[in-house]
Amino acid sequence: MSFSAEIKKRRTFGIISHPDAGKTTLTEKLLLFGGAIQEAGAVKSNKIKKGATSDFMEIERQRGISVATSVLAFRYRDKKINILDTPGHKDFAEDTFRTLTAVDSVIVVIDVAKGVEEQTEKLVSVCRMRNIPMIVFINKLDREGKDAFDLLDEVEQKLGLRVTPLSFPIGMGYDFQGIYNIYEGNIQLFRGASKKKREERSEFRSLEDSELEKQIGGKALQDLRDNLELSGGVYPEFDRDAYLKGELQPVFFGSALNNFGVQELLDCFVDIAPDPRPKQAEERLVLPTEEQMSGFVFKIHANMDPKHRDRLAFVKIVSGTFQRNTPYLHVRLGKNLKFSSPNAFFAEKKEIVDTSFPGDIVGLHDTGNFKIGDTLTQGEILHYKGIPSFSPEHFRYINNADPMKAKQLAKGIDQLMDEGVAQLFTLELNGRKVIGTVGALQYEVIQYRLEHEYGAKCTYENFPVHKACWVDPDDPENPEYKEFIRVKQKYLARDKQGQLVFLADSAFSLQMTRDKYPSVKLHFTSEFA
Ligand code: G4P
Repeated sequence: MSFSAEIKKRRTFGIISHPDAGKTTLTEKLLLFGGAIQEAGAVKSNKIKKGATSDFMEIERQRGISVATSVLAFRYRDKKINILDTPGHKDFAEDTFRTLTAVDSVIVVIDVAKGVEEQTEKLVSVCRMRNIPMIVFINKLDREGKDAFDLLDEVEQKLGLRVTPLSFPIGMGYDFQGIYNIYEGNIQLFRGASKKKREERSEFRSLEDSELEKQIGGKALQDLRDNLELSGGVYPEFDRDAYLKGELQPVFFGSALNNFGVQELLDCFVDIAPDPRPKQAEERLVLPTEEQMSGFVFKIHANMDPKHRDRLAFVKIVSGTFQRNTPYLHVRLGKNLKFSSPNAFFAEKKEIVDTSFPGDIVGLHDTGNFKIGDTLTQGEILHYKGIPSFSPEHFRYINNADPMKAKQLAKGIDQLMDEGVAQLFTLELNGRKVIGTVGALQYEVIQYRLEHEYGAKCTYENFPVHKACWVDPDDPENPEYKEFIRVKQKYLARDKQGQLVFLADSAFSLQMTRDKYPSVKLHFTSEFA
């Protein structure tokens, strides 16, 4: 198969949702329809169960699962589909943001009863900023929930999307009877719950089919007709270009648990979802069809065996073909590296692969060369953009609790930060180290892993910080900037990349600082150019 045909075959996407909306169930059903697994229950949920904060075995178990489900690939029709796993738990939101830099489109899952929830809002706003094409799947139609039109309104209002339904439910909850597939123009009736296997379906091609009225009843049919008429009048017609530009979001309804509406979603997804998209590097826009290989690391996972400290770096191939045993330039280190056993992912297995194409994810064994955001090329100096750090929510000093193990501690902190578990800030004034995290859970994870994987002990001390702001001096020679550096010295730190960060202790002091030094720009993310 030609290079360009290989690219066109690939669909690399992520499923995002608020926890419990049904992301894991939908993922599993997509794999089931793709023939990648035989039975539901094979994909374990990698969500952190409530109350697991002090259960370290649980954390380790979750880490194991999240390696296994990082990339789930399968073939469907003539396409190769890569699903990138995104943790739903908000303490791991940053991991999800980074994974979103490696997807070409997303499916957003919404619970019909709960509607748009907090985590969905945050994740969708990131996708919107990046114009990532999105399909919305409204799940759990077998339960009582919100009215379809109200929900579509809510999705538009709260998520700032412009939607068009491509399927429409017939009833809901107890009265849920099936789905009208607007995209294909047919009707599937729901025949009770067979949770494990594919549903036996009864399909109608037309609303005029007299058998249809017999089966769903006159009232349901009339309601459906009215709803479709209303929907046709209110919502724009589906336009693939608008979808690909991130300007229009098709919506599907169904019940992942009951395998209902999933096939419709998958068939449409395969038709309309984008093949690998071009990616912006600091230097230029890189097209997938370019011959020269390039890719970037969006996730690093530590080995589960604490005795072997090698890690798996997940690289998204952006252009060219990635070949086993071929030297590639590690741009940040300026050295060539060869990989003898790159992993490709297939359902829940990983296997060594000789050639990977744009859109694919390869897992590279790493002994400490990689950081998140690193770029590999065939010689060109490229830096892929879009993997910023965001201001953490929690900040604590980290102290060494065992003076004999200072080296181990330093190494452990260094490697865990490269994995993206948390962010490290080193105070300019005294060199003390501060760990910033999105959620409090990470402190326990770090402490546990430092002890078990690096033999080091740490303690924490509160450090009251409101926000970390990356400093953009505008002009470093400006006297205003110099005064800012002098006066605020106590609050200045360096992140791991050496960028200067202002740690504001309250919203008030942040505002005061901004007012006093207007030429010094303070950003909540590390990437602002
Ligand atoms: P998540 O990954 O988004 O966090 O959600 P997950 O798929 O784990 O689903 C959350 C819960 O919602 C699960 O129930 C799951 O069975 C249920 N669910 C998913 N899709 C549907 C659906 O279409 N209809 C209904 N009624 N329920 C659905 P649980 O009790 O939390 O877990 P489990 O014990 O069933 O695994």
